[in-house]
Amino acid sequence: MKMCDCNASVEHQDIRHRILSHSVAAPSPLNIQPWSVQLKEPLILDLFLDTERFLPGIDPTFRQVYISSGAFIENLDIAAREAGYRAEVSLFPFSWPGTSLDPDQPVARIELTADDHMVPDPLFSFLHTRYTNRRIYTPQEIPPGTIYSLAGSFNQQFTSFGFSAEPSFRKELAGYLKRAMEIELADSERLAEHLSYIRLTHQTRSGQQDGYGSSELGLTGITGWLSGIRLRLCPAGSKTRCAKALLIRLTQKQADSAAAFGWIATKGNFRHDQVRAGRAYERVHLTAASLGLSLHTMTPILEPYPGMEELCHKFRDLIGIPDTHTVQMLFRLGFSVPGSPSVRRPVKDLVMTPCNMTEGISRAHHPAVTN
Ligand SMILES: Cc1cc2nc3c(=O)[nH]c(=O)nc-3n(C[C@H](O)[C@H](O)[C@H](O)COP(=O)(O)O)c2cc1C
Repeated sequence: MKMCDCNASVEHQDIRHRILSHSVAAPSPLNIQPWSVQLKEPLILDLFLDTERFLPGIDPTFRQVYISSGAFIENLDIAAREAGYRAEVSLFPFSWPGTSLDPDQPVARIELTADDHMVPDPLFSFLHTRYTNRRIYTPQEIPPGTIYSLAGSFNQQFTSFGFSAEPSFRKELAGYLKRAMEIELADSERLAEHLSYIRLTHQTRSGQQDGYGSSELGLTGITGWLSGIRLRLCPAGSKTRCAKALLIRLTQKQADSAAAFGWIATKGNFRHDQVRAGRAYERVHLTAASLGLSLHTMTPILEPYPGMEELCHKFRDLIGIPDTHTVQMLFRLGFSVPGSPSVRRPVKDLVMTPCNMTEGISRAHHPAVTN
């Protein structure tokens, strides 16, 4: 189906692989890493979505995978600058998909050009230190200057940043987020998707390349130990129910400890809006990392699951977003002890080359359900 360049020089292969090794540090829902890259002429890359990594239950409109492509592109752009290359990004180079899913065409074509005048982006240093911190945050307030830095960290068309640290707002939203998690996990398909990527009772082991373990989930120290014991003592046959209860309890604690909430909204909800929101989100998260601020995305309330309608209305009223806008990302912010970064696939696994295209890339996902 897809063509690639068999004769690219080793030098060009190397620079693209080097840049991609930074792109893969991008965030994605449940760390699924739904990206596939095709190397074309010496300095051209096409980014595709890897449909075998989709989460049809949790991400029924595929909005989240497009957002994570935006984050991937942002990392790529920053890494290219650092290497002295200009990255020209053409979103949906063959046709504008509107709101439809079109996995056969690239989300973006990226053309690299060597340029001695490229100014490195200071956020480069944080590509591998940015991570989602799901631990409980301290009551420390976020200084106003930090918020200005987050709000000014990106410049994407029709994409805006919102924020509130107001105590009654936080309390009300924390309640909504717990309820949203209950609704998300009430569906067995969505719950199974969670449990196939989150390893609740153990840490990430070497060899695992996606998802995350108990420490990335914030279950560390005595709390982590107690949760592990509780799950193990849970009668066989009820383990899924116990895991679900644990995830909901944890969401409540996490949301309650937020020092503030932030969100990214777009005017319109086309695929290109979602990709741009992903680029903006990645810059906000990298900027937070550069300022020593923890960030944790909490998206269930943004999804159109049956039963979410009323909560969604209340949430939109609370943040005062107009009907013309879509909230693409919602996250809590605060200070915390360091959390744990999650694993990634090696670049070679997502690059389509003449060899692995003919042999087929093994993308089988091996679930780690707790039952
Ligand atoms: C579109 C999107 C939605 C996400 N939703 C959630 C969420 O609801 N809850 C959560 O804990 N993390 C969420 N995340 C964070 C991912 O789980 C995280 O990025 C991934 O596990 C990789 O880990 P890292 O961010 O630490 O590198 C989301 C990330 C993206 C890009």
